[in-house]
Amino acid sequence: MPPATGSTDFRDSGLEFAPDFVIGSATASYQIEGAAREDGRGPSIWDTFSHTPGRVWNGDTGDVADDHYHRWESDLDLMAELGLQAYRFSIAWPRIQPTGSGAVNPAGIAFYSRLVDGLLQRGIRPIATLYHWDLPQTLEDAGGWPARDTALRFAEYAARTAEALGDRVHTWTTLNEPWCSAYLGYGSGAHAPGRTDGAAALAAVHHLNLGHGLAVQEIRRAATNDPELSVTLNLHVIRGDHSTSPEAKRRIDALANRAFTHPMLKGEYPADLLEDTAAVTDWAFVKGGDLADIRQPIDVLGVNYYSTVTVKMWDGVGPKANNDGHKDVGGSPWPGSSDVVEFLPQEGPFTEMGWNIAPDGLEELLLSLKDEFPDQPLMITENGAAFPDRVTMTDAGPRVHDDDRVDYLNRHFTAAHRAMQQGVDLRGYQVWSLMDNFEWGYGYSKRFGIVRVDYETQERILKDSALWVKELLETRRTPG
Ligand code: NOJ
Repeated sequence: MPPATGSTDFRDSGLEFAPDFVIGSATASYQIEGAAREDGRGPSIWDTFSHTPGRVWNGDTGDVADDHYHRWESDLDLMAELGLQAYRFSIAWPRIQPTGSGAVNPAGIAFYSRLVDGLLQRGIRPIATLYHWDLPQTLEDAGGWPARDTALRFAEYAARTAEALGDRVHTWTTLNEPWCSAYLGYGSGAHAPGRTDGAAALAAVHHLNLGHGLAVQEIRRAATNDPELSVTLNLHVIRGDHSTSPEAKRRIDALANRAFTHPMLKGEYPADLLEDTAAVTDWAFVKGGDLADIRQPIDVLGVNYYSTVTVKMWDGVGPKANNDGHKDVGGSPWPGSSDVVEFLPQEGPFTEMGWNIAPDGLEELLLSLKDEFPDQPLMITENGAAFPDRVTMTDAGPRVHDDDRVDYLNRHFTAAHRAMQQGVDLRGYQVWSLMDNFEWGYGYSKRFGIVRVDYETQERILKDSALWVKELLETRRTPG
């Protein structure tokens, strides 16, 4: 019996996905590669952060991680065994430019070149993310994302990388979850570089947006393989009693969602965002011409979805609830609204992250994007769950019966299918993650993989969820 995780409406089997609906899996460089000091790779903010005592659970670091840098070939074989149509990976900026600017490091390019060739040989579509949080430390020392120059350096890095790989990579994603880079990196300090300064976080929002727009232009110029351009956002599905507290929803929607979608897709910052944050910053870092640079047509908008948040305006009585799904550390990820908005406890069931399981939130998000941006194709670039897996020894070898993860995937594929039935132009679905890996501030304590990694031996074991994905890919229908 599968465990009871979420509304029964969203558990279905036999749902059909057309052959051109691109099903694959996702990872990110710092979370899997290891080889942190090899072949000329420079240090990134995550090396510094993870090596700073007290920042990451158990003092874990990405020094070795899944050792994918050395095991990439057998990992590609694993992907082929599962029948993945696509593999979404990220390129480590400090492997390409160890100090974040200037000449490229040939060994870094060579690694990703081999990886891309290996994917193509196996018939797997490469989806390359340029920035999944590993900023070269030299650039952080020069000011990081709150500094305008970082956006210009990012455009240069995008150009060099697209010149090297743009004849083969199919889909390019500029940024992964800039919300996290800005607000967790510079606001709450839960992520590298661990700063707690609301004004810096908002400057980072703008320079990430600018970096995105400039990078799109560079990749279009340099890539020759009819590239598809995208960016991946973790848009928030915001719940609450909005009839009594619409203000809370509006504020969080402005900071979490419209701060990115509006400049990128409409060429403007929402007026209410500027007003809500006026006491924090005057936004003087937005220069003439920036919004035109940021607003670039993209072929696909990447959506990462895990759970929902519930908000209300704080009445000032008692301790303020702060359940926004993120580690509660020094600062707040909500500049301008941290003192007035409460994040209420969610209704279960929950994953091991403490995140609520809400497939209906995914359907709602996809439908709302269709309403707001009707001509924008979408792709789910991440969805998945951490659960406390157990390895069971069987006659056929070790197995992981991760029924809860299978159930989670079933419900979210069902939600995606429902959204498509209602006209959402959804192009594909990348499961997070291909294999267990370094879960940022939580280190190796949370396992999101559909493949288990034994960190002692680096052995990979296909979990039942991997077999579920394999069957889905074979039959093009959600398995029962
Ligand atoms: C989103 C991030 O992109 C990824 O790196 C992370 O591991 C997952 N969410 C799970 O938290």
